[in-house]
Amino acid sequence: MLKLAIDFGTAMTKIYKLGSGIVLSEPTCVSVARETGEIRGFGSEAKRLVGKTGEFTDVVFPVYEGEIVNEKQAAALLEYFLKKVIGRTFSVEALFCVPCGCSVEAREKYYNVAKSAGVSRVNFAETPYLAVLGHDVPLSESNPVFAIDIGAGKTSLATFTLDGIIAGLTMNVGGNNIDIHIIDHIAERYNLKIGPLTAEKLKNTVGSLVDHDNQSMLVNGRDITTGRPRSVTVSSEDVLFPIRVYTDKITEYAEIVLRKLPAEVSAAMCKNGIFLSGGVCNIIGLADYVAKKLQMEAHLPNDVQMAIVLGGGRAIGNRALHDKICME
Ligand SMILES: Nc1ncnc2c1ncn2[C@@H]1O[C@H](COP(=O)(O)OP(=O)(O)OP(=O)(O)O)[C@@H](O)[C@H]1O
Ligand SMILES: [Mg+2]
Repeated sequence: MLKLAIDFGTAMTKIYKLGSGIVLSEPTCVSVARETGEIRGFGSEAKRLVGKTGEFTDVVFPVYEGEIVNEKQAAALLEYFLKKVIGRTFSVEALFCVPCGCSVEAREKYYNVAKSAGVSRVNFAETPYLAVLGHDVPLSESNPVFAIDIGAGKTSLATFTLDGIIAGLTMNVGGNNIDIHIIDHIAERYNLKIGPLTAEKLKNTVGSLVDHDNQSMLVNGRDITTGRPRSVTVSSEDVLFPIRVYTDKITEYAEIVLRKLPAEVSAAMCKNGIFLSGGVCNIIGLADYVAKKLQMEAHLPNDVQMAIVLGGGRAIGNRALHDKICME
């Protein structure tokens, strides 16, 4: 049986195939005909249309804040991705990464979607376990670790050992919130309306939490007063506030989790530091900013966005570990 680890994220789907490595990284979105609901495009092809569709097409993200919101579209998209990575029909066992504390109902949706997409055996593991495995750090029952994953739609943070989660939570905060806030901020500061793709590009290109960082990018948009196209140069400083607001929110909640820990666990946290993952951790200076706020060392893996699916890859290659971290 072919083994896959699947991170069906709010923004990006990542797939790891045992024996091959990462075989797919594509936006979790579809374009649909507005009138009939018929799916017209999948993944990267659909994402290119965000903010540019006319009256006949919508671009839809079937996973919202880490939860499946449209099972039919999610199943069609997953089936498309699976066809792309495994070609012919194979019997597939897949480990799905789900948010920390994912409810039975939410997992049921993942299960139904996976089954309709043709997956024979469906398993689940929570984000924090896979994040730390993605750092290439072994899990043990006696050495608690602390992980923060900041994705597009949600942030998972947890302290845990191989024996289970000690304290953790999932917040509906991520890169999407920052993008929306950037749109509002640019409108206020420059009287310019920019689109969601431009806002995301700004965050990913000039976004920085380094003091006095001064990168800039020319962006095009629509003048709010005249309605005419106009461009402005936006700097790191212009997008700092939206980035800082959400990073502060995340560190605030991380502090709440950390404050509740038993003394021995706190001691281990101090020694081991924080394991960061998720695309938003690409923001320059974010790891140092979080480390300073929480007064702990913060570790970044080589590829923050792929850490979870790489951790999933490690788990599907080790049956004992896999069975230990899988949810019931
Ligand atoms: N260089 C970058 N700088 C800042 N943010 C980035 C960068 N690259 C990607 N991102 C952001 O990371 C997010 C996607 O990360 P990731 O793939 O971890 O999320 P996801 O798994 O799809 O979402 P979730 O875990 O919330 O379901 C998007 O908001 C994207 O804009
Ligand atoms: Mg994710």
